[in-house]
Amino acid sequence: MAKTYGKITGWGAYAPPRIITNHELEATLDTSHDWIVQRTGIHARHVADANETTSTMAVKASWSALAKAGIPSTELDLILVATSSPDYFTPPVSSMVQSMLGAHDVPAMTIVTGCTGFVYALVTAYQFIETGAYRNILVVGVELLSRFVNWEERSVSVLFGDAAGAVVVQPSDEPCGLEGYVLGSDGTNGQAIIMPAGGSARPFSEDVLQEGSHYLQMNGREVFKFATRVIGPSCDEALRLAGKSMADVDWIIPHQANLRIIQAAAKDMDIPLDRWIVNIDQYANTSAASIPLALAESLESGRVKPTDTLLLVSFGAGMTWASAVLQMQPN
Ligand code: COA
Repeated sequence: MAKTYGKITGWGAYAPPRIITNHELEATLDTSHDWIVQRTGIHARHVADANETTSTMAVKASWSALAKAGIPSTELDLILVATSSPDYFTPPVSSMVQSMLGAHDVPAMTIVTGCTGFVYALVTAYQFIETGAYRNILVVGVELLSRFVNWEERSVSVLFGDAAGAVVVQPSDEPCGLEGYVLGSDGTNGQAIIMPAGGSARPFSEDVLQEGSHYLQMNGREVFKFATRVIGPSCDEALRLAGKSMADVDWIIPHQANLRIIQAAAKDMDIPLDRWIVNIDQYANTSAASIPLALAESLESGRVKPTDTLLLVSFGAGMTWASAVLQMQPN
């Protein structure tokens, strides 16, 4: 039987209109624009207003992706939503998105692997497409981390922003799609990115509220070391599995956590920075949304073409890592 490939026929992104610059943060935090830019490359971040939630942002990006693909939400066979900042622990945000899209009875699941969530979800979508189980799959990466950071504490709050990105994957007879991928997890150092309270290990309480231990905490140095250690090898392995080399890759779309991490990886891998898609300056770290946001934005600007060979690479909470060699559409 002929192999079924998967092509990405639609894409879309959404970032809330409210932009908070580093200079604005200087008014309330003991920080400076220069410190943030030098250590991270971040100039500004988009932050959701009180009327928005993770699901409403996901739905906005999803409508754009569905419109681009030219299919109604009722034709979807599966919805995958990657996030670590859902509206609620339960119900799953994926079911909320499914309902808000009017995609009646369509199966939906939430994938919670931190910043690698979108690549994990995309790889999952391709398994269903390639086996023929489902034909029309919506994959969303969305994050509203501004509600999970302590805005009175400088070390974490300055790093994150809110956004959503989505793609539609459909079958194709012509070669394209996911050519090679690597997914990885090492929970031994999971404490490096943690929300210590609010879950079963430490349920919410007065003490938790007083300590602020329900907020996101991070050991920045550990995460930095981890990221620079995994990016190169996971890219090499995904390329090996795809039977390709770095010379075949048109664009690398990395998770946007820190410009210095991207610069270190570019140096380590000997790939000039102008082949890396970088938009962290305007959005900060949008976790599971960062890759689909960068992808949609660079497709819309015409910088990236749907027939280009892309290398997606991400890392984050878990600790997890994920990379994928992707050609969205056939030549
Ligand atoms: N503004 C000003 N000063 C700050 C600050 C801020 N927003 N945040 C921390 N500092 C201070 C610290 O208090 C410390 O001061 P001290 O030397 O007086 O104790 C100093 O800056 C250095 O802090 P440190 O945490 O060692 O800085 P760093 O060079 O490691 O940079 C990060 C911090 C977070 C930018 C960096 O570690 C990083 O980007 N790590 C990766 C994070 C990441 O990618 N996370 C997402 C993973 S998906």
